[in-house]
Amino acid sequence: MLLSKFFERPTRTIFLKMECITKTNYSGNAITFKRYRGRTFHPDTPGNVGEHLDDITSLPSRPEDVLLCTFAKSGTHWVFNMAKMIQTKSLQYSGTPKMLDYLDIGTFNKMASPRLFHTHMTYPFIPKAAAEGKMKVIYVLRNPKDVACSYYKFLCNVKTKEYDGSFDGFLQHFLSEEFIGSGGSWFTHTREWNTAMLTNPDLKILCLRYENLKKDIYQNIVRIAEFMEVDHEVSFLKKVEEAVSFEHLKNEHATVLGERELWKHKGDNGRLPIYRKGIIGDWKNMFTVTQNEQFDAVYKEKMTDVGVNIEFDYE
Ligand code: A3P
Repeated sequence: MLLSKFFERPTRTIFLKMECITKTNYSGNAITFKRYRGRTFHPDTPGNVGEHLDDITSLPSRPEDVLLCTFAKSGTHWVFNMAKMIQTKSLQYSGTPKMLDYLDIGTFNKMASPRLFHTHMTYPFIPKAAAEGKMKVIYVLRNPKDVACSYYKFLCNVKTKEYDGSFDGFLQHFLSEEFIGSGGSWFTHTREWNTAMLTNPDLKILCLRYENLKKDIYQNIVRIAEFMEVDHEVSFLKKVEEAVSFEHLKNEHATVLGERELWKHKGDNGRLPIYRKGIIGDWKNMFTVTQNEQFDAVYKEKMTDVGVNIEFDYE
């Protein structure tokens, strides 16, 4: 099924100015994003996007910095909290990370070391220091069918109701390049990050997979500690394993520790609706056979012959 059936095509190919775009799908349900130089950005990206991107790429680095990079709904909060516990040697819940994408860059310059911050940006928009290997990067990848389901539920559940229609209509948005992103769709994000991992030998990067975290969390906690070059004792890392269980994080998120001033418009006291099911393969409960075939066709079209071969565990 051709996606162009559902969307009017943009009339211009190069966009030098930032535009606020609302795209409507065949069932009349819209998503909104900012478009800058032909790329899509989240509507909460500050100002005209361009200046904020310049601020992010020129962020001054410190030797102990760690940047967590994810496409939305890939397990950001989970990995952020385990890395933060390891970095600070504390089991306290740290909630939603400080995100380069939305905060004034001065916030990061004022952060105490060691810093651990986050971005959903595609590779071309990350801090230059990270691309040059002066900032460690933890990248998390999750199977895109589950990402789509998780994203759909999230957008329906935020107070701002960023999407208010059927899953089928949402999927048409998700599969197109004109989807809310931080520089691009899931496909662009994943292609660019994985190409960078293959071609940029300077990158200091730890690539984690959501499905692998589910299967062996302790081994991944050890990998994070080693990557961050943090002294660690087995007994503490075992406690981290317990502290980042889905149930524990969910309970902690429901306390004051889950609240964020920045997200007051989206959730109860700024608490984002993050902890939903936390499983692999929920897509099987949500995708029809037709939707699955459509997804696979788009995946093949966009992800074949790009020089990277990414296998996903969909089970
Ligand atoms: P689901 O909506 O499929 O449940 P992000 O933090 O990037 O927004 O990702 C949110 C997704 O990660 C949600 O997926 C959430 O439930 C899942 N998640 C969070 N903590 C988890 C944990 N401890 N174990 C497994 N999944 C977790």
